[in-house]
Amino acid sequence: MDSAAVYEQSQLYREIEIPFSFAEIFFSRTDGRGKIQSGNEVFQRISGYSWSELAGKPHNIIRHEGVPRAVFWLLWERLKKGLQTGAYVKNKSKDGRFYWVYAIITPCEGGYLSVRIKPNSGIFGVVQAEYSSLVRMEAEERLSPAESATRLMARLSALGFESYDAFMATSLSAEFSGREENLQRQPRQTLALYERLMPSATRLLAAARQISEGYLTYRFVPLNLLVHAGQIGEAGAAIATISTNYNTLSEEIERGLEGFLEAAIRVSQTINVGAFLLATSYVQQEIAASFRQEAAIEGVDHATEKNYLNQQQLTYQGEALKSLTGIEQELKSFFEMVSEMRRLASGLAAIRIMGKVESGRLSVGVVKDLIMDLEAFQDIVQSGLSDILQANSALKLDTSRLLEAYSTEDV
Ligand SMILES: Cc1cc2nc3c(=O)[nH]c(=O)nc-3n(C[C@H](O)[C@H](O)[C@H](O)COP(=O)(O)O)c2cc1C
Repeated sequence: MDSAAVYEQSQLYREIEIPFSFAEIFFSRTDGRGKIQSGNEVFQRISGYSWSELAGKPHNIIRHEGVPRAVFWLLWERLKKGLQTGAYVKNKSKDGRFYWVYAIITPCEGGYLSVRIKPNSGIFGVVQAEYSSLVRMEAEERLSPAESATRLMARLSALGFESYDAFMATSLSAEFSGREENLQRQPRQTLALYERLMPSATRLLAAARQISEGYLTYRFVPLNLLVHAGQIGEAGAAIATISTNYNTLSEEIERGLEGFLEAAIRVSQTINVGAFLLATSYVQQEIAASFRQEAAIEGVDHATEKNYLNQQQLTYQGEALKSLTGIEQELKSFFEMVSEMRRLASGLAAIRIMGKVESGRLSVGVVKDLIMDLEAFQDIVQSGLSDILQANSALKLDTSRLLEAYSTEDV
């Protein structure tokens, strides 16, 4: 076929998706610059290249223009820092057809490993739409990959993902569980528990942020109240005392919250990383085991690749377990922090009542409004703290269940 005919055919093929089954897992290993060193039969067959055409080539040999540059920019930024990374990737086969995978890329000795499964979750649909609009923006606005990555992160945040790690954890566990279901396998209890931990951690963080934002919104109310109390003279003395006390207490709450927020972010991040590593280890374990049945590829030594995968999956499982023990400790200290904040909040409640009585007695409009603002802040603190307590006890319960499941599940 001459090159014009090849081009014509690939144009025809570009709309066609290559089918493959949920049971099939792609594998490849690259050097430090992303040049293909090894792979499995699934990768070779679906990509449509012979092994000799793939070996030693940069992995972008199967790059599809439907993936925003931002995705690969983020991928390499993370890989350079030694961080495991997950992403939805659309690939192009030799004849121009495409296929989607959920790719997990992890650093290994001398380069990187990649295992890829068939995606099918609701998140996948959302991501496909996001990729299309980002590819368009990259072209129309001539965005640099870094600028485009900032846009992608903003979109993920708008979709409710705290960080790229949160997105990776949620998307991989959704894809992994969906795949298990499609293959009619029993769900992994450990992963199911991680899936419960993730939203609890998000709720905990959201509640802490809500109190922090409330503090910022109403920060100047006590000061304003003090000024107005001064203008009233003698009669405003009680209001002055109330506003000073209120200020002291709300500042203490805010200070306590800073440490709490940091710890909550840490816990949430640890849960995300743990869930991602655990699901990764399951996929790696499965593909390592499947090498036994797979047809040999000239130049690929299955035993070597199995060794890479087995070593890594054991490390990842160990890391996920270790991080859970850390979470248990953090959750204990959360409880103490929240108890202290609750003590301060009950002080606020008492002052609130005094404020209400005094402002009723004075019947000065502006003072009344300011006292109402203080009441609004106190409501935010109260409801935020009760959300935190609920999320905290859910986290504690599920973490201990997870540790239990770890010790019984045959991982
Ligand atoms: C282990 C590993 C696996 C990769 N797998 C893919 C892949 O399946 N598809 C892809 O387009 N890029 C993959 N990449 C990323 C490519 O190296 C490259 O960054 C990407 O194709 C973008 O290429 P470009 O910058 O030339 O556009 C992989 C990288 C590594 C390290």
